[in-house]
Amino acid sequence: MATEHSRRGFLMASASAAVAGLTMARDVSAGAQDSAPPAAPAFNVPTPVLERWRGDRFGMFIHWGLYSLLGRGEWVIFSEQIDYREYKRLMDRFTAAQFDPDAWAATAKAAGMKYMVLTSRHHDGFCLWDSKVSDFKCTRSAARRDLVAEYTRACRKAGLLVGLYYSPLDWRFPGFFFPGMYRENAEALKQQTYDQVRELLTNYGKIDILWFDGGGDDWLGLGGLEFGEGGWHTRDRAKHYEGRPLWEAEKLYAMIRELQPDVIMNDRAASHGDWQGDFSTPEQRIGAFETQRPWESCMTLCTSWGYRTNDTMKSLGTVLQLLVRAAVGDGNLLLNVGPTAAGSIEPRQVQRLKEVGEWLGQYGESIYGTRGGPFPSAAWGGCTWRGNQVYMHVLDWPEDYVQLPPTPHRIVSSRSLTGSQVKVDQTAEGVRIAVPAPERQAIDTVIALELDGPASG
Ligand code: GLC
Repeated sequence: MATEHSRRGFLMASASAAVAGLTMARDVSAGAQDSAPPAAPAFNVPTPVLERWRGDRFGMFIHWGLYSLLGRGEWVIFSEQIDYREYKRLMDRFTAAQFDPDAWAATAKAAGMKYMVLTSRHHDGFCLWDSKVSDFKCTRSAARRDLVAEYTRACRKAGLLVGLYYSPLDWRFPGFFFPGMYRENAEALKQQTYDQVRELLTNYGKIDILWFDGGGDDWLGLGGLEFGEGGWHTRDRAKHYEGRPLWEAEKLYAMIRELQPDVIMNDRAASHGDWQGDFSTPEQRIGAFETQRPWESCMTLCTSWGYRTNDTMKSLGTVLQLLVRAAVGDGNLLLNVGPTAAGSIEPRQVQRLKEVGEWLGQYGESIYGTRGGPFPSAAWGGCTWRGNQVYMHVLDWPEDYVQLPPTPHRIVSSRSLTGSQVKVDQTAEGVRIAVPAPERQAIDTVIALELDGPASG
Protein backbone atom coordinates (compact mmCIF):
# COMPACT_ATOMS: atom_id res chain seq x y z
CA MET A 1 0.00 0.00 0.00
CA ALA A 2 2.69 2.37 1.10
CA THR A 3 4.54 1.42 -2.04
CA GLU A 4 1.85 2.77 -4.30
CA HIS A 5 1.44 5.91 -2.30
CA SER A 6 5.07 6.75 -2.36
CA ARG A 7 5.25 6.30 -6.10
CA ARG A 8 2.19 8.37 -6.59
CA GLY A 9 3.83 10.97 -4.43
CA PHE A 10 6.81 10.81 -6.71
CA LEU A 11 4.71 11.41 -9.76
CA MET A 12 2.77 14.18 -8.15
CA ALA A 13 5.93 15.88 -7.05
CA SER A 14 7.35 15.40 -10.51
CA ALA A 15 4.29 16.82 -12.16
CA SER A 16 4.15 19.88 -9.99
CA ALA A 17 7.89 20.38 -10.33
CA ALA A 18 7.40 20.21 -14.06
CA VAL A 19 4.69 22.80 -13.94
CA ALA A 20 6.83 25.03 -11.78
CA GLY A 21 9.71 24.50 -14.18
CA LEU A 22 11.84 23.05 -11.42
CA THR A 23 14.22 20.13 -11.36
CA MET A 24 12.41 16.88 -10.61
CA ALA A 25 12.10 15.79 -7.04
CA ARG A 26 13.97 12.50 -6.99
CA ASP A 27 13.55 11.15 -3.54
CA VAL A 28 10.00 11.57 -2.45
CA SER A 29 9.70 7.82 -2.06
CA ALA A 30 11.61 7.82 1.21
CA GLY A 31 10.50 5.49 3.90
CA ALA A 32 7.93 3.31 2.26
CA GLN A 33 9.06 0.95 -0.43
CA ASP A 34 10.85 -1.54 1.74
CA SER A 35 7.92 -2.16 4.03
CA ALA A 36 5.50 -3.83 1.64
CA PRO A 37 3.42 -6.69 3.04
CA PRO A 38 4.65 -10.24 2.43
CA ALA A 39 3.91 -11.50 -1.06
CA ALA A 40 1.11 -13.92 -1.82
CA PRO A 41 2.87 -17.10 -2.89
CA ALA A 42 1.04 -17.54 -6.17
CA PHE A 43 3.40 -15.46 -8.29
CA ASN A 44 6.62 -15.76 -6.34
CA VAL A 45 9.70 -16.69 -8.30
CA PRO A 46 11.19 -19.97 -7.01
CA THR A 47 13.19 -19.29 -3.85
CA PRO A 48 16.57 -20.60 -5.09
CA VAL A 49 16.43 -18.20 -8.05
CA LEU A 50 15.69 -15.29 -5.79
CA GLU A 51 18.34 -16.30 -3.27
CA ARG A 52 20.99 -16.51 -5.93
CA TRP A 53 20.14 -13.03 -7.14
CA ARG A 54 20.24 -11.74 -3.58
CA GLY A 55 23.73 -13.14 -3.22
CA ASP A 56 24.77 -11.31 -6.39
CA ARG A 57 24.14 -8.04 -4.55
CA PHE A 58 25.23 -5.63 -7.25
CA GLY A 59 23.83 -4.80 -10.68
CA MET A 60 24.00 -2.16 -13.39
CA PHE A 61 20.95 -0.09 -14.29
CA ILE A 62 21.03 1.53 -17.72
CA HIS A 63 18.75 4.38 -18.75
CA TRP A 64 19.11 4.93 -22.45
CA GLY A 65 16.69 6.16 -25.07
CA LEU A 66 15.77 9.07 -27.33
CA TYR A 67 15.94 11.42 -24.36
CA SER A 68 19.68 10.75 -24.14
CA LEU A 69 20.05 12.97 -27.21
CA LEU A 70 18.87 16.01 -25.29
CA GLY A 71 21.12 15.45 -22.29
CA ARG A 72 18.57 16.65 -19.76
CA GLY A 73 17.43 13.41 -18.20
CA GLU A 74 14.76 10.87 -19.10
CA TRP A 75 11.79 13.04 -18.06
CA VAL A 76 12.71 15.82 -20.47
CA ILE A 77 9.69 15.53 -22.78
CA PHE A 78 7.36 15.70 -19.83
CA SER A 79 9.11 18.26 -17.69
CA GLU A 80 9.66 20.62 -20.63
CA GLN A 81 6.32 19.73 -22.25
CA ILE A 82 7.95 19.08 -25.60
CA ASP A 83 5.62 18.50 -28.54
CA TYR A 84 5.69 14.77 -29.31
CA ARG A 85 5.95 15.50 -33.03
CA GLU A 86 9.20 17.30 -32.34
CA TYR A 87 10.41 14.63 -29.93
CA LYS A 88 9.76 11.89 -32.47
CA ARG A 89 12.03 13.66 -34.91
CA LEU A 90 14.90 12.69 -32.60
CA MET A 91 14.56 9.20 -34.09
CA ASP A 92 16.45 10.44 -37.15
CA ARG A 93 19.38 11.30 -34.93
CA PHE A 94 19.24 8.17 -32.77
CA THR A 95 22.02 6.27 -34.56
CA ALA A 96 23.32 4.15 -31.67
CA ALA A 97 26.66 4.61 -33.43
CA GLN A 98 28.69 3.71 -30.35
CA PHE A 99 26.30 1.15 -28.94
CA ASP A 100 28.43 -1.82 -27.96
CA PRO A 101 26.66 -3.93 -25.37
CA ASP A 102 29.75 -6.10 -24.99
CA ALA A 103 31.53 -2.98 -23.75
CA TRP A 104 28.68 -2.28 -21.31
CA ALA A 105 28.88 -5.84 -20.07
CA ALA A 106 32.66 -5.59 -19.71
CA THR A 107 32.23 -2.40 -17.67
CA ALA A 108 29.64 -4.07 -15.46
CA LYS A 109 31.89 -7.05 -14.90
CA ALA A 110 34.89 -4.86 -14.14
CA ALA A 111 32.73 -3.14 -11.52
CA GLY A 112 31.96 -6.47 -9.89
CA MET A 113 28.34 -6.29 -10.98
CA LYS A 114 26.50 -9.54 -11.62
CA TYR A 115 23.47 -8.38 -13.58
CA MET A 116 22.22 -5.61 -15.82
CA VAL A 117 18.83 -3.95 -16.26
CA LEU A 118 18.23 -1.91 -19.41
CA THR A 119 15.31 0.45 -20.05
CA SER A 120 13.68 -1.42 -22.91
CA ARG A 121 11.05 1.32 -22.87
CA HIS A 122 10.75 4.32 -20.57
CA HIS A 123 7.69 6.53 -19.94
CA ASP A 124 8.17 8.30 -23.29
CA GLY A 125 7.14 5.10 -25.07
CA PHE A 126 10.19 4.67 -27.31
CA CYS A 127 11.09 0.98 -27.66
CA LEU A 128 14.64 -0.28 -27.83
CA TRP A 129 13.40 -3.42 -29.53
CA ASP A 130 11.46 -4.24 -32.67
CA SER A 131 8.01 -4.18 -31.09
CA LYS A 132 5.32 -5.37 -33.47
CA VAL A 133 2.70 -3.21 -31.78
CA SER A 134 4.53 0.11 -32.09
CA ASP A 135 6.21 2.25 -34.73
CA PHE A 136 7.93 4.30 -32.10
CA LYS A 137 10.96 2.04 -31.89
CA CYS A 138 14.66 1.75 -32.59
CA THR A 139 14.24 -0.28 -35.74
CA ARG A 140 12.46 2.73 -37.25
CA SER A 141 15.11 5.13 -35.97
CA ALA A 142 18.47 5.84 -37.57
CA ALA A 143 19.87 2.91 -35.58
CA ARG A 144 17.84 0.35 -37.55
CA ARG A 145 18.87 -2.39 -35.13
CA ASP A 146 17.10 -4.36 -32.46
CA LEU A 147 19.06 -3.09 -29.49
CA VAL A 148 17.41 -5.31 -26.90
CA ALA A 149 18.37 -8.37 -28.96
CA GLU A 150 22.01 -7.33 -28.99
CA TYR A 151 21.96 -6.36 -25.33
CA THR A 152 20.45 -9.62 -24.12
CA ARG A 153 23.00 -11.62 -26.10
CA ALA A 154 25.87 -9.56 -24.68
CA CYS A 155 24.71 -10.04 -21.07
CA ARG A 156 24.51 -13.78 -21.48
CA LYS A 157 27.84 -13.98 -23.23
CA ALA A 158 29.44 -12.14 -20.31
CA GLY A 159 27.74 -14.39 -17.75
CA LEU A 160 25.59 -11.59 -16.37
CA LEU A 161 21.92 -11.96 -15.52
CA VAL A 162 19.70 -10.33 -18.12
CA GLY A 163 17.36 -7.65 -16.84
CA LEU A 164 14.82 -5.50 -18.64
CA TYR A 165 13.14 -2.38 -17.32
CA TYR A 166 9.70 -1.76 -18.77
CA SER A 167 7.38 1.16 -18.06
CA PRO A 168 3.69 0.22 -18.34
CA LEU A 169 2.86 3.91 -18.23
CA ASP A 170 3.30 5.74 -21.49
CA TRP A 171 2.90 9.50 -21.74
CA ARG A 172 1.53 9.25 -25.26
CA PHE A 173 -1.75 7.89 -23.89
CA PRO A 174 -4.32 10.45 -22.68
CA GLY A 175 -5.92 7.48 -20.96
CA PHE A 176 -3.04 7.42 -18.54
CA PHE A 177 -3.69 11.03 -17.53
CA PHE A 178 -7.51 10.86 -17.65
CA PRO A 179 -8.39 7.18 -17.27
CA GLY A 180 -12.08 7.81 -16.63
CA MET A 181 -12.69 10.01 -19.64
CA TYR A 182 -10.49 8.13 -22.09
CA ARG A 183 -11.29 4.67 -20.84
CA GLU A 184 -10.82 3.09 -24.22
CA ASN A 185 -7.44 4.68 -24.54
CA ALA A 186 -6.48 3.58 -21.02
CA GLU A 187 -7.45 0.05 -21.99
CA ALA A 188 -5.24 0.35 -25.06
CA LEU A 189 -2.37 1.39 -22.77
CA LYS A 190 -2.94 -1.70 -20.72
CA GLN A 191 -3.13 -3.87 -23.83
CA GLN A 192 0.14 -2.42 -25.02
CA THR A 193 1.75 -3.53 -21.76
CA TYR A 194 0.46 -7.05 -22.17
CA ASP A 195 1.55 -7.24 -25.79
CA GLN A 196 4.96 -5.75 -25.25
CA VAL A 197 5.76 -7.73 -22.13
CA ARG A 198 4.79 -10.83 -24.06
CA GLU A 199 7.18 -9.85 -26.85
CA LEU A 200 10.02 -9.19 -24.46
CA LEU A 201 9.52 -12.50 -22.69
CA THR A 202 9.06 -14.49 -25.88
CA ASN A 203 11.60 -13.23 -28.40
CA TYR A 204 14.78 -12.70 -26.41
CA GLY A 205 15.46 -15.97 -24.65
CA LYS A 206 15.59 -16.26 -20.90
CA ILE A 207 15.03 -12.98 -19.08
CA ASP A 208 16.20 -13.04 -15.47
CA ILE A 209 14.80 -9.77 -14.16
CA LEU A 210 11.75 -7.78 -15.17
CA TRP A 211 11.90 -4.32 -13.69
CA PHE A 212 8.58 -2.49 -13.98
CA ASP A 213 8.08 1.20 -13.40
CA GLY A 214 4.73 2.92 -13.38
CA GLY A 215 2.09 0.21 -13.52
CA GLY A 216 -0.99 -0.20 -11.38
CA ASP A 217 -4.11 1.82 -10.82
CA ASP A 218 -2.53 4.26 -8.40
CA TRP A 219 -0.32 5.57 -11.19
CA LEU A 220 -3.35 6.47 -13.29
CA GLY A 221 -4.41 10.08 -13.50
CA LEU A 222 -0.80 11.17 -13.42
CA GLY A 223 -0.48 9.37 -10.14
CA GLY A 224 -3.00 11.51 -8.34
CA LEU A 225 -4.97 13.83 -10.56
CA GLU A 226 -8.71 13.51 -10.01
CA PHE A 227 -11.84 15.41 -10.73
CA GLY A 228 -14.05 16.47 -7.89
CA GLU A 229 -15.65 19.46 -6.28
CA GLY A 230 -14.04 22.61 -7.56
CA GLY A 231 -12.44 20.94 -10.59
CA TRP A 232 -9.25 18.99 -11.01
CA HIS A 233 -7.07 18.52 -7.99
CA THR A 234 -4.41 16.21 -6.69
CA ARG A 235 -5.68 13.26 -4.72
CA ASP A 236 -4.98 13.16 -1.05
CA ARG A 237 -1.78 11.25 -0.40
CA ALA A 238 -3.52 8.79 1.90
CA LYS A 239 -6.10 7.90 -0.74
CA HIS A 240 -5.90 5.32 -3.51
CA TYR A 241 -7.14 5.75 -7.05
CA GLU A 242 -10.90 5.51 -6.85
CA GLY A 243 -11.85 5.32 -10.52
CA ARG A 244 -12.90 2.16 -12.27
CA PRO A 245 -10.05 -0.32 -11.78
CA LEU A 246 -8.06 -0.90 -14.91
CA TRP A 247 -4.87 -2.70 -14.32
CA GLU A 248 -5.74 -6.23 -13.16
CA ALA A 249 -2.09 -6.85 -12.44
CA GLU A 250 -2.74 -10.46 -11.50
CA LYS A 251 -3.57 -11.27 -15.13
CA LEU A 252 -0.30 -9.75 -16.23
CA TYR A 253 1.57 -11.73 -13.60
CA ALA A 254 -0.15 -14.95 -14.61
CA MET A 255 0.93 -14.38 -18.22
CA ILE A 256 4.48 -13.60 -17.16
CA ARG A 257 4.74 -16.71 -15.01
CA GLU A 258 3.46 -18.82 -17.84
CA LEU A 259 6.06 -17.40 -20.22
CA GLN A 260 9.00 -17.24 -17.84
CA PRO A 261 8.45 -18.94 -14.49
CA ASP A 262 11.91 -17.94 -13.23
CA VAL A 263 11.90 -14.24 -14.03
CA ILE A 264 12.39 -12.08 -10.93
CA MET A 265 9.92 -9.20 -10.81
CA ASN A 266 10.03 -5.98 -8.86
CA ASP A 267 7.09 -4.35 -7.10
CA ARG A 268 6.14 -1.64 -9.56
CA ALA A 269 3.49 -3.26 -11.72
CA ALA A 270 0.91 -4.05 -9.08
CA SER A 271 -2.17 -2.23 -7.96
CA HIS A 272 -2.66 -1.94 -4.25
CA GLY A 273 -3.90 -5.10 -2.66
CA ASP A 274 -2.28 -7.19 -5.34
CA TRP A 275 0.85 -9.23 -5.09
CA GLN A 276 3.80 -6.95 -4.50
CA GLY A 277 6.47 -8.51 -6.68
CA ASP A 278 9.48 -10.54 -5.64
CA PHE A 279 11.32 -7.57 -4.21
CA SER A 280 10.92 -3.94 -3.13
CA THR A 281 12.61 -0.99 -4.76
CA PRO A 282 13.65 1.90 -2.53
CA GLU A 283 14.73 4.65 -4.91
CA GLN A 284 17.71 6.99 -4.54
CA ARG A 285 18.25 5.84 -0.97
CA ILE A 286 19.44 2.71 0.79
CA GLY A 287 16.65 0.60 2.22
CA ALA A 288 16.25 0.04 5.94
CA PHE A 289 17.66 -3.14 7.53
CA GLU A 290 15.26 -5.85 6.35
CA THR A 291 16.14 -9.52 6.14
CA GLN A 292 12.73 -11.01 5.33
CA ARG A 293 11.44 -9.15 2.32
CA PRO A 294 14.07 -8.97 -0.47
CA TRP A 295 14.89 -5.46 -1.62
CA GLU A 296 17.07 -3.62 -4.05
CA SER A 297 17.97 0.05 -3.86
CA CYS A 298 18.22 1.75 -7.21
CA MET A 299 20.54 4.72 -7.27
CA THR A 300 22.32 6.85 -9.81
CA LEU A 301 26.09 7.04 -10.23
CA CYS A 302 25.60 10.69 -11.20
CA THR A 303 22.43 12.58 -10.25
CA SER A 304 20.25 11.77 -13.25
CA TRP A 305 18.98 8.43 -14.60
CA GLY A 306 19.07 9.37 -18.25
CA TYR A 307 22.15 11.08 -19.70
CA ARG A 308 22.71 14.61 -18.43
CA THR A 309 25.52 16.73 -19.76
CA ASN A 310 28.22 17.43 -17.15
CA ASP A 311 26.34 15.66 -14.43
CA THR A 312 27.97 15.45 -11.01
CA MET A 313 29.41 12.02 -10.30
CA LYS A 314 29.56 10.32 -6.91
CA SER A 315 32.96 9.71 -5.33
CA LEU A 316 34.40 6.23 -4.99
CA GLY A 317 33.89 6.39 -1.24
CA THR A 318 30.24 7.31 -1.61
CA VAL A 319 29.55 4.51 -4.09
CA LEU A 320 31.31 1.90 -1.99
CA GLN A 321 29.57 2.97 1.17
CA LEU A 322 26.21 2.78 -0.59
CA LEU A 323 26.98 -0.73 -1.74
CA VAL A 324 28.12 -1.77 1.71
CA ARG A 325 25.12 -0.16 3.38
CA ALA A 326 22.88 -2.11 1.03
CA ALA A 327 24.66 -5.39 1.78
CA VAL A 328 24.66 -4.96 5.57
CA GLY A 329 20.96 -4.12 5.39
CA ASP A 330 20.46 -7.38 3.42
CA GLY A 331 19.64 -5.64 0.15
CA ASN A 332 21.02 -5.30 -3.36
CA LEU A 333 22.24 -2.20 -5.14
CA LEU A 334 21.26 -1.41 -8.71
CA LEU A 335 23.60 1.38 -9.73
CA ASN A 336 22.56 3.42 -12.72
CA VAL A 337 24.53 4.78 -15.62
CA GLY A 338 23.03 6.88 -18.41
CA PRO A 339 25.02 6.31 -21.59
CA THR A 340 25.34 9.10 -24.15
CA ALA A 341 22.90 9.15 -27.05
CA ALA A 342 25.48 7.39 -29.20
CA GLY A 343 25.50 4.60 -26.64
CA SER A 344 28.77 4.86 -24.76
CA ILE A 345 29.24 5.18 -21.03
CA GLU A 346 31.39 8.22 -20.20
CA PRO A 347 35.04 7.25 -19.58
CA ARG A 348 35.04 8.84 -16.12
CA GLN A 349 32.09 6.64 -15.16
CA VAL A 350 33.74 3.56 -16.60
CA GLN A 351 36.80 4.43 -14.53
CA ARG A 352 34.77 4.92 -11.34
CA LEU A 353 33.08 1.58 -11.82
CA LYS A 354 36.44 -0.08 -12.36
CA GLU A 355 37.61 1.33 -9.03
CA VAL A 356 34.54 -0.13 -7.37
CA GLY A 357 35.41 -3.47 -8.95
CA GLU A 358 38.96 -3.26 -7.68
CA TRP A 359 37.70 -2.85 -4.13
CA LEU A 360 35.32 -5.76 -4.61
CA GLY A 361 38.18 -7.81 -6.02
CA GLN A 362 39.87 -7.43 -2.64
CA TYR A 363 36.94 -7.54 -0.27
CA GLY A 364 34.19 -9.21 -2.28
CA GLU A 365 34.09 -12.22 0.04
CA SER A 366 32.45 -9.93 2.59
CA ILE A 367 29.69 -8.91 0.13
CA TYR A 368 28.85 -11.62 -2.40
CA GLY A 369 26.84 -14.59 -1.22
CA THR A 370 26.39 -13.10 2.23
CA ARG A 371 23.27 -12.05 4.09
CA GLY A 372 22.86 -8.81 5.99
CA GLY A 373 23.12 -9.09 9.78
CA PRO A 374 22.99 -10.90 12.13
CA PHE A 375 23.34 -7.59 13.97
CA PRO A 376 21.13 -4.79 12.66
CA SER A 377 23.04 -2.08 10.89
CA ALA A 378 23.65 1.22 12.62
CA ALA A 379 25.18 4.63 11.98
CA TRP A 380 28.72 3.19 12.18
CA GLY A 381 27.99 0.57 9.49
CA GLY A 382 26.86 -3.04 9.87
CA CYS A 383 27.56 -6.69 9.25
CA THR A 384 27.18 -9.36 6.66
CA TRP A 385 27.48 -13.06 7.36
CA ARG A 386 27.93 -16.43 5.74
CA GLY A 387 27.96 -19.61 7.83
CA ASN A 388 30.16 -19.02 10.90
CA GLN A 389 31.74 -15.86 9.48
CA VAL A 390 30.54 -12.39 10.32
CA TYR A 391 32.01 -9.47 8.38
CA MET A 392 31.85 -6.14 10.13
CA HIS A 393 31.94 -3.11 7.89
CA VAL A 394 32.87 -0.03 9.86
CA LEU A 395 32.17 2.98 7.67
CA ASP A 396 32.17 5.65 10.30
CA TRP A 397 34.01 5.03 13.57
CA PRO A 398 31.89 6.32 16.44
CA GLU A 399 34.63 6.58 19.06
CA ASP A 400 37.23 4.18 20.30
CA TYR A 401 35.30 1.05 19.57
CA VAL A 402 32.17 -0.36 17.98
CA GLN A 403 29.69 -1.99 20.29
CA LEU A 404 27.74 -5.01 19.10
CA PRO A 405 24.79 -6.45 21.03
CA PRO A 406 25.23 -9.68 23.00
CA THR A 407 25.33 -12.83 20.91
CA PRO A 408 24.82 -16.44 22.00
CA HIS A 409 27.88 -17.35 19.95
CA ARG A 410 31.45 -17.24 21.09
CA ILE A 411 33.79 -15.34 18.81
CA VAL A 412 36.65 -17.77 18.27
CA SER A 413 38.86 -15.63 16.05
CA SER A 414 39.08 -12.29 14.35
CA ARG A 415 41.07 -10.73 11.54
CA SER A 416 40.91 -7.55 9.57
CA LEU A 417 40.60 -7.85 5.82
CA THR A 418 41.89 -4.33 5.51
CA GLY A 419 45.07 -5.18 7.37
CA SER A 420 44.73 -3.73 10.85
CA GLN A 421 44.99 -5.08 14.35
CA VAL A 422 41.67 -5.96 15.94
CA LYS A 423 40.83 -6.12 19.60
CA VAL A 424 37.72 -8.08 20.49
CA ASP A 425 36.22 -7.92 23.92
CA GLN A 426 33.23 -10.20 24.40
CA THR A 427 31.18 -10.10 27.59
CA ALA A 428 27.59 -10.82 28.58
CA GLU A 429 26.80 -7.18 27.79
CA GLY A 430 27.93 -7.45 24.19
CA VAL A 431 30.97 -7.30 21.99
CA ARG A 432 33.41 -4.44 21.75
CA ILE A 433 35.56 -4.17 18.65
CA ALA A 434 38.49 -1.80 18.56
CA VAL A 435 41.01 -0.94 15.86
CA PRO A 436 43.82 1.56 16.43
CA ALA A 437 42.84 4.90 14.89
CA PRO A 438 45.70 5.11 12.35
CA GLU A 439 44.78 1.66 11.01
CA ARG A 440 41.16 2.46 10.30
CA GLN A 441 40.11 2.86 6.68
CA ALA A 442 38.50 6.05 5.43
CA ILE A 443 35.91 4.16 3.40
CA ASP A 444 35.42 0.80 5.12
CA THR A 445 37.34 -1.14 7.75
CA VAL A 446 36.40 -4.76 7.21
CA ILE A 447 36.75 -7.19 10.10
CA ALA A 448 35.98 -10.88 9.92
CA LEU A 449 34.76 -12.54 13.10
CA GLU A 450 34.56 -16.29 13.29
CA LEU A 451 31.78 -17.63 15.49
CA ASP A 452 31.52 -21.03 17.11
CA GLY A 453 28.38 -21.75 15.07
CA PRO A 454 26.36 -20.40 12.17
CA ALA A 455 25.42 -16.74 12.58
CA SER A 456 21.84 -17.47 11.62
CA GLY A 457 21.23 -19.85 14.50
C1 GLC B 1 11.31 6.84 -11.34
C2 GLC B 1 11.28 7.64 -12.61
C3 GLC B 1 12.16 7.16 -13.64
C4 GLC B 1 13.26 6.21 -13.32
C5 GLC B 1 12.96 5.34 -12.15
C6 GLC B 1 14.10 4.49 -11.70
O1 GLC B 1 10.20 6.14 -11.05
O2 GLC B 1 10.00 7.83 -13.11
O3 GLC B 1 12.53 8.14 -14.49
O4 GLC B 1 13.38 5.39 -14.39
O5 GLC B 1 12.44 6.04 -11.14
O6 GLC B 1 13.84 3.88 -10.49
